[in-house]
Amino acid sequence: MQTTCVANQKGGVGKTTTSFNLAAGLADKGMRVLMIDLDPQYNITTAAGVLPPGCEYKTGHVLHQEVTIPEAVIREVITSAGSVDLVPADSSLKKAEDLLIPELFSERRLARALEGLDYDHVILDCSPSLGLLTINALIAATRILIPCQFGSFSIEGIANLLNMIDGVGSGEKVKQLLITMFRSRTTRTNEWAEDQLEPYREIILKTKIRENEALRQAAIEQQSIFEFASRSHGAEDYRALTEEFLAL
Ligand SMILES: Nc1ncnc2c1ncn2[C@@H]1O[C@H](COP(=O)(O)OP(=O)(O)OP(=O)(O)O)[C@@H](O)[C@H]1O
Ligand SMILES: [Mg+2]
Repeated sequence: MQTTCVANQKGGVGKTTTSFNLAAGLADKGMRVLMIDLDPQYNITTAAGVLPPGCEYKTGHVLHQEVTIPEAVIREVITSAGSVDLVPADSSLKKAEDLLIPELFSERRLARALEGLDYDHVILDCSPSLGLLTINALIAATRILIPCQFGSFSIEGIANLLNMIDGVGSGEKVKQLLITMFRSRTTRTNEWAEDQLEPYREIILKTKIRENEALRQAAIEQQSIFEFASRSHGAEDYRALTEEFLAL
């Protein structure tokens, strides 16, 4: 089982879009995937068409060890060749995080909850912060995927995140940067951005996610990009990401 943490403390860079469409892409390949919503904004829960009031248990209950993941999971929020399950969240996750801080080994709760599960891939959609929820995800993960919005990423932010990953690192974790919202026509910005990213060249994925309106619309329609517009640039790019991700 591979556990991938999708993290960047900068907001709006494409974490949820990437988590959701990568999960859908993996399911299209026949994989059994689990998504865990680790964001009190619960965007991936919404994207999956799940309404939190209808869910008895959520990520907060799992982290507080009130239920196991199989008890909290909403099954088959996406079905194709494989399937995607979801542990949903809602805004109470913020309170759950605060209450967790003084508890013993609270940074390892997610890693423990994932032990013994039988999925091909687990995708952890983080909030734009480096708080205890993200630390739990970084510790639980075998891979860390960092979406960076092209032209507006913060080099300092990326460096801080990478330092933090090394700080929590029990065992070597695969770290990769994914360029999102790429615009091929803005030559000046591209040159500037490529210079900025030079120190990280070795960990940048070959696939770039282009800016694509269909990705925005798919999220509103609560569909994966493959379902919403399977011939769009967005679908093409997330299909390529899935292939590159699996080839690793
Ligand atoms: N490649 C893209 N092209 C166009 N729009 C995109 C693209 N990727 C994401 N978006 C849109 O940008 C917005 C932010 O994306 P998303 O929610 O995935 O970011 P996030 O990093 O999860 O944000 P947050 O930090 O708030 O959790 C959303 O409206 C989404 O639909
Ligand atoms: Mg998000």
